Amino acid sequence: MRLVNTLSLIAFSLTFFSCASDTNRISEKSKAILDMKRATDFHSFSKPEEAFVNHLEWDASVNFSDRTIDANATYKIQTSKNAERIILDIRELNIKCVKVDGKEASYEIGEEMPFIGSPLSINITPDTKEISIHYSTQPGADAFLWVEGENPFLFTQSQAILARTWIPCQDSPGVRFTYNATVKVPSNLMALMSAENPTEKNEQGYYEFRMNQPIPSYLMALAVGDVEFRSVGAHTGVYATPDLIDAAEYEFAEMEDLLVAAEALYGKYRWERYDLLILPAAFPFGGMENPRLTFATPTIIAGDRSLVSLVAHELAHSWSGNLVTNATWDDFWLNEGFTVYFEQRIMEAVYGKELSEMLASLSYQGLVKEVDEIMDLNPKDTHLRLHLKDRNPDDGMTAIAYDKGYMFLRMLEGIVGRESFDEYLKTYFSKHAFQVMDTDNFIAYLKANLLTSEELQSQAMISDWIDGEGLPNNCPKVKSDRLNKVDNILYMWSQNNALTSDIPWADWTYQERYRFLTRINSEITLDDLAELNNQFDILSTGNNEILFAWLEQAIKKKHVGSYPRLEEFLVNVGRRKFLTPLYKAMLETGQKEMALNIYNKARKNYHSVATATMDELLKIEAND
Ligand code: BES
Ligand code: ZN
Repeated sequence: MRLVNTLSLIAFSLTFFSCASDTNRISEKSKAILDMKRATDFHSFSKPEEAFVNHLEWDASVNFSDRTIDANATYKIQTSKNAERIILDIRELNIKCVKVDGKEASYEIGEEMPFIGSPLSINITPDTKEISIHYSTQPGADAFLWVEGENPFLFTQSQAILARTWIPCQDSPGVRFTYNATVKVPSNLMALMSAENPTEKNEQGYYEFRMNQPIPSYLMALAVGDVEFRSVGAHTGVYATPDLIDAAEYEFAEMEDLLVAAEALYGKYRWERYDLLILPAAFPFGGMENPRLTFATPTIIAGDRSLVSLVAHELAHSWSGNLVTNATWDDFWLNEGFTVYFEQRIMEAVYGKELSEMLASLSYQGLVKEVDEIMDLNPKDTHLRLHLKDRNPDDGMTAIAYDKGYMFLRMLEGIVGRESFDEYLKTYFSKHAFQVMDTDNFIAYLKANLLTSEELQSQAMISDWIDGEGLPNNCPKVKSDRLNKVDNILYMWSQNNALTSDIPWADWTYQERYRFLTRINSEITLDDLAELNNQFDILSTGNNEILFAWLEQAIKKKHVGSYPRLEEFLVNVGRRKFLTPLYKAMLETGQKEMALNIYNKARKNYHSVATATMDELLKIEAND
């Protein structure tokens, strides 16, 4: 371990909040947290059983010119009887000064580990109430994406373990804290966080934030840009840049309906407001459930509200994930599987069963495909309970946690009936609100409260789902009549028993079009594909899911007429879910040169989460 002595005195004026004198007297609840048997989190150095943080005051100044944030993080902490140190996670941070109860203190930074970072160990006593860290971030910090030029923008992505690249923190989902923040940004920009947010810019570029509900570090989020706010309902609204705000207001006008439906299903929304921020297209995900303010890709603005299920998903996380949180990243399915189930139920409640069953069927289709792929690579990765020790937790972001998790819950619903299952879930969320859940505790709670007989338990085949490979025999079958019809038409067309003009493209929903495109097989020729585009002008679609599905087929069949659009799409959009299959398709069809050419132009626009995956994909192939 490297010992760093902090003798340098830093001139950084800060207003410290005053601690009430009894803040360190351990409350019953904190004692329970300290005594609790914690699931081991292999992705954090923190040792919350010795000392943990429970409130953060974050004061920061955002500098676009050198892509850094200069900040002070002051934590209130709770200590155990014999506490000697508190350990925070850091990665790529410049630590300038550490204070313990207002006095400059020494600290140690341990050896750096790949993607995990280093432990920042601060000496304390059982009486310590507060620690304070003055630090700055590095320009290449992995959580950030800085957009330069006329419309500067900064956003963070903390999940799974990137919060530590912009805030020193106990970066483990089992540690929750409330926070207040002050953030200084260039005066023409607005700052937003996963907290109570402003709706207007101010001339000083100075913003204050409060998050009164305790959240884990992976839900810390910051965005800075020239954005406007529009209210779309009593508790809901959208933020977007001026060029997108009208479109966003229209696209997400039904957000309040989703919120009302969600509350009717599983209990009160605990975060007061639910707003949506449309980020630059470089955002590596579709959405991120930052509390009170979901971050979303602009690629869900289709002009016809056809992609709102993504908002239903992120909203559902306000219960599954943000309220009841996976204890470690091995339990990720408890966040995502529950959320896909909940998303489906919201969609069914608001848009009807016909539509939600199409979505379920597409989820199943994606799951079967990915299970096959993962079984070839590493069959254990098809277990619901993941094995991410010594691996990047990002590896767990597959259809297993999402769609196998969903199918597991759907199977449980089938066994006990919807009424009992809903009652059970509602209680599950309220009983464990603002707490963690791990897979073992989930199973124990399931057996005690839902599957109360041995007969029910064996019917559910719990361990086959949790620690078994592939899809168990009792995996529900999803049937969608409308998608079956699509499959039939595709079959007829592929056999030359139907003309291209017989395809009812104009009448189809996005889900039906997506099904058609993703099921195109080797019997369909390049000429067929060109004909399809001639008839329905698919390349001009405003729906990015359709465009993506089209481009994947265009690559496979070498429909070169689509290539300019392909390049434009890949240079502008950084959503990994689109990038991976498109680059893969190029590699698999002998078009590596084109893949590398496009990637060369596009890479600088992507977030680290996306470049990490694409670098590996393109390098592995290059070595073949
Ligand atoms: N929380 C996830 C995104 C995430 C997971 C980020 C793991 C980093 C690590 C978010 O809720 C999510 O699942 N997003 C999906 C959309 C959803 C509709 C399946 C996405 O971005 O594709
Ligand atoms: Zn999710």
